[in-house]
Amino acid sequence: MNEMANKKRLNVHLYVTPLCNLACKHCYYNAKSREIFSGRLLTILEMKEIVTILSDSYAAAFDVEGGEFFLRPDIDELFEVVPSHYWNNITITTNGTVNVGIDPKHLRCLDEFRISVEGHTDELQHDIRGINLSPVLETCLHLHSNRVPVTLRITLHKKNYKYLPEMIEKFIALGFTKFSMYEFQPVGQGYSYRNEYSLNQLEIEKIFNLLLSFTNYEKIELLKLSLSRKRIPIVTTYRSKFVRIGYNVADLSGISSLTINYNGEIGICPWNVGDDVIGLFYKDDFKTDISKYVERGLFNHFCDYCSAIRIIYQQPKGN
Ligand SMILES: C[S@@+](CC[C@H](N)C(=O)[O-])C[C@H]1O[C@@H](n2cnc3c(N)ncnc32)[C@H](O)[C@@H]1O
Repeated sequence: MNEMANKKRLNVHLYVTPLCNLACKHCYYNAKSREIFSGRLLTILEMKEIVTILSDSYAAAFDVEGGEFFLRPDIDELFEVVPSHYWNNITITTNGTVNVGIDPKHLRCLDEFRISVEGHTDELQHDIRGINLSPVLETCLHLHSNRVPVTLRITLHKKNYKYLPEMIEKFIALGFTKFSMYEFQPVGQGYSYRNEYSLNQLEIEKIFNLLLSFTNYEKIELLKLSLSRKRIPIVTTYRSKFVRIGYNVADLSGISSLTINYNGEIGICPWNVGDDVIGLFYKDDFKTDISKYVERGLFNHFCDYCSAIRIIYQQPKGN
C-alpha cells in the first residue's frame, strides 16, 4: 500500500490575495479591487508551511488562487521555497491577464495550471469578465509555446453552454487539450446574477447530450465537468452513457474540505470564504490545530456549491 493511500484525503483551497484586477460579475470570492486592502497577509514562508505540513500529514490536493494569484508581487518566491515534489498536488488558477513571471519549469510540475475563459469569443468573455478574450489567449499561447500544459477553466452558464462544442473545437484548433468545467454557482457576487446565469436541470441535460455527441475526443487529453450535489441524480441517470464513450464518474461527496484565506483565517467551504471561520493560522500550532479539527470532523463538508460529482474524460497515456 503506498503512503498516499494511507493518508486522509483533504481538499485544500488556499487564497493568496484578496485582490483582483478584474471585476467579474459572477465572482463567488468577492475579490477586492487593488485599492481597497489593508491588514494581515499570509507570508510566503507561512504558505510554504501550510503546503508542506498538510502534504506531509494528509493526501492533500491544493487549489491555490485569489483574487488574482499573480498580483502577489512576491509569489515567485513561493516556487523557490516549496520543494518541487510538493507541486504535483497543486492546481493554480489565474485570469491570464497579469504577467506570469514564473519559470515554466516550475509550472510544468503542477497538477494543473488553469487559465479562466468564459467562452470562445470576445463577447462571451466580456459579458462576465469585462475584457476581451484575445489577451488571455495570448497568455495561454505563450505558455503553451513554453511547453506549459495549460488547462482552460470554463464556467458553464445559461449564456454560454449551447456553444460548448464549437468552444472546445476552437480551443483544440489553437492547440489546447485540457478543459476543466464547472457549473455557475449563485454565490458571492454571483448571487445577484442568479437569474441571468444559473442553469436548470434541462440545460444540464442539454450539456450532457452535447458532450455525448461530441465527435473529436481523440484530440482531448482531459475534460472534466464538476457538479454540485443537486446534480448527482441526473449524472447517475446518464452514467452508463458517459462510461460507454470513455468517461469516468467520480463521487467527490464527503471529501474533507479545508479553506485558508489570505489573512490566515481557517475555514471549511471554498465558496463561502470568511463565513465559516474556525481558527487562525499560527505556524507553531498549525499541525496540531488541523489534526484536532480533523478528529472533530469539522472538515466533513456538504454544501450546495462544492463539487460532489465529476465526469472525467482522460486520454489514456501514450495516445
Ligand atoms: C475566483 S476565480 C480566482 C482566480 C482568477 N482570478 C481567475 O479569474 O481565474 C477562480 C475561478 O472561479 C470561477 N468562478 C468565479 N465565480 C464563480 C461562480 N459564481 N460560479 C462558478 N465559478 C465561478 C472563475 O471563473 C475562475 O475560473
